[in-house]
Amino acid sequence: MPSHQLQPPLWADRLRLPAIAAPMTTVSTPELVIGAARRGVIGAFPTHNAATPAELETWMRRFATELDGIAAPVAPNLVVHRSNGRRDADLAVLERHRVELVITSVGSPKPVIGPLHDIGARVFADVASLTQADRAVTAGADGLVLLTAGAGGQTGWANPFAFVRAVRARFDGPIVLAGGISDGQSILAAQALGADLVYLGTRFIATHQSGAGDDYRQALVAATLDDVQLSDRVGGIPASLLTSWLDAHAVPPRAESPDGFEQDRLLANRDAWSAGHSVSGVHGVLDTDELIDELIADYLRARADLTEGSR
Ligand SMILES: Cc1cc2nc3c(=O)[nH]c(=O)nc-3n(C[C@H](O)[C@H](O)[C@H](O)COP(=O)(O)O)c2cc1C
Repeated sequence: MPSHQLQPPLWADRLRLPAIAAPMTTVSTPELVIGAARRGVIGAFPTHNAATPAELETWMRRFATELDGIAAPVAPNLVVHRSNGRRDADLAVLERHRVELVITSVGSPKPVIGPLHDIGARVFADVASLTQADRAVTAGADGLVLLTAGAGGQTGWANPFAFVRAVRARFDGPIVLAGGISDGQSILAAQALGADLVYLGTRFIATHQSGAGDDYRQALVAATLDDVQLSDRVGGIPASLLTSWLDAHAVPPRAESPDGFEQDRLLANRDAWSAGHSVSGVHGVLDTDELIDELIADYLRARADLTEGSR
């Protein structure tokens, strides 16, 4: 069994919670990223949320100006699938800005790892199976984001308990658990399983800083996990979507690519109402500061309760 617990936690002096505000199409705005990073949570965003590589350049300059060295890292998320025509142009922007962490999604991180390692960046790859995890590690990924059943957006299907334990048995590097995490109790549980960090997506949709419209945010407050359905209607691969949105929107023609995913199709549906099972933990629309403070308080209480219980 790898002894990963013996390593110092990543960015320990800059994180108030072992968490990443997950990258979300349309939802992750510069304000959300800055709000999270200033409050001690890694702020991730898909590079395609900036309309062009030139706008991405502007965003990166803004992060450098508004965040100091003690803020948590900013983590651009790069869709590495071949259908993303902007991949290399966005990568060039990230290289110029010497980013410290990049999260890859939808495909093997192999083509981007070399250039990112050359500038000293860490590369975390999102994966949904052991085969994908092995492939990412072989390609040189420094960390893995495990997409599990019930995650928001393009989801995984593996059970989180089984997936973290199976990956931990073969990989000693940083593991991020994604899916179903809505509160401090779940963050602590993820650490107990062997994860180093967690993703929180859905909870950050219901913040004032997110790019979600009011009707979408209110739909999240009203929804429970019973209102979440799997569908490949948005990007061509299975994603978690609110039933109310699916019922109200016509089915587009099927994707043509062999593996189903098409970046253009995802972007054409960028306003879809996606949510994970963690939607049951959304009870109101908060500021990012309030949300993070609530998560920290829950996390500390859960940890104290456990210690108390073990005395
Ligand atoms: C509205 C929405 C958009 C998303 N867009 C992306 C994306 O562009 N890139 C990506 O890697 N993951 C995306 N995801 C997945 C999240 O990064 C994350 O894996 C997921 O939200 C975790 O599950 P949770 O919502 O239960 O916290 C998206 C999720 C949601 C809810």
